[in-house]
Amino acid sequence: MLGGAMEQSKVIQSKEDALHLLNVALEHEWAVSFEYTIHAYSMPKGKFLYQDPIMQKTTDARAQTIQIGIDEMYHSLQLGIIIKQMGGKPSFKSDKIIRYPKIVDNFKRDQETEDMVTNLYQSAEFEEGAFPKIQNMILNISYDEVRHSDQFVAMMEAMKAKGAEEDLCFQADLENAHKEEVQLLHEIMRLENELLHRYLYYTILFSEHQDLSQRLFKNSIDLMRHWDKNSGILVKLGDVVKIENAEKDADGVETSMSPMPSVYPGDDRMSALDTLIPTEEKLISAYETLIPMIPDGEIKEQLELHLGLNREHLFTQHWLLNNALKITGLK
Ligand SMILES: [Fe+2]
Ligand SMILES: [Fe+2]
Repeated sequence: MLGGAMEQSKVIQSKEDALHLLNVALEHEWAVSFEYTIHAYSMPKGKFLYQDPIMQKTTDARAQTIQIGIDEMYHSLQLGIIIKQMGGKPSFKSDKIIRYPKIVDNFKRDQETEDMVTNLYQSAEFEEGAFPKIQNMILNISYDEVRHSDQFVAMMEAMKAKGAEEDLCFQADLENAHKEEVQLLHEIMRLENELLHRYLYYTILFSEHQDLSQRLFKNSIDLMRHWDKNSGILVKLGDVVKIENAEKDADGVETSMSPMPSVYPGDDRMSALDTLIPTEEKLISAYETLIPMIPDGEIKEQLELHLGLNREHLFTQHWLLNNALKITGLK
């Protein structure tokens, strides 16, 4: 079960009932947006091709799993914005996430999760006419989940047909525990994970006005791209993306109840903008420490690109704060 989230909801009549369902769903969506990208980043690129039943084309299972993870991120954003608009508080807690040693076991979990959440969404009963737009949104999201489930089934079938059921996820080289550059890259990814979700938190917080909301969302997308590229760099360095706060059992199954922080600083424009600057500076400084440790070549160039874009964020964040301070009565 997904951290108890897949409870059967009662008939939705009041605003509180609707907010409860939306937050249960949100905690699920945060989890799967992580789970799928982590599963994808733990498997080889371009090795497991399958016939996608919806797109009707040969597709890389890894690439499509990342794409599904991005769909889940959009579901989170949609739910969070509606919760905020209704006067609720969007939850940044997450359901449990798991990484199995075998690639196919991860897909099996992904598919089962999709079926469970489809059931949560499609079995939600609304009092007639109570919240028609929310009811419609929930149904619309549920059919993304139906599609995802069909896609995961096709991926698993292709792996079975190829005799790849025992294929394992990437494992971290034991020696990497002592390599400063690898550990620093893990730390950078932890910071990026926090910051990208903080930007999403502010995107939701300021969603009543597109200016700030869209700008902060853009930064979040940049950080997601960096996280994606950095996970590829880790593989080249003989490592694999870490799951934050994960416990590994004797069978090598990793479980985490908190793959991202659940609380973020700043609850209005000034405090949010103020707190972003030192965090971007911290990330920039970590890249500036890491880059000289890396030999010239593709990896270094990629890291320099990330550093450049983070410096752009810092410039923008300074001016968002300074400009806000110039306007009297801005909240
Ligand atoms: Fe979803
Ligand atoms: Fe899904």
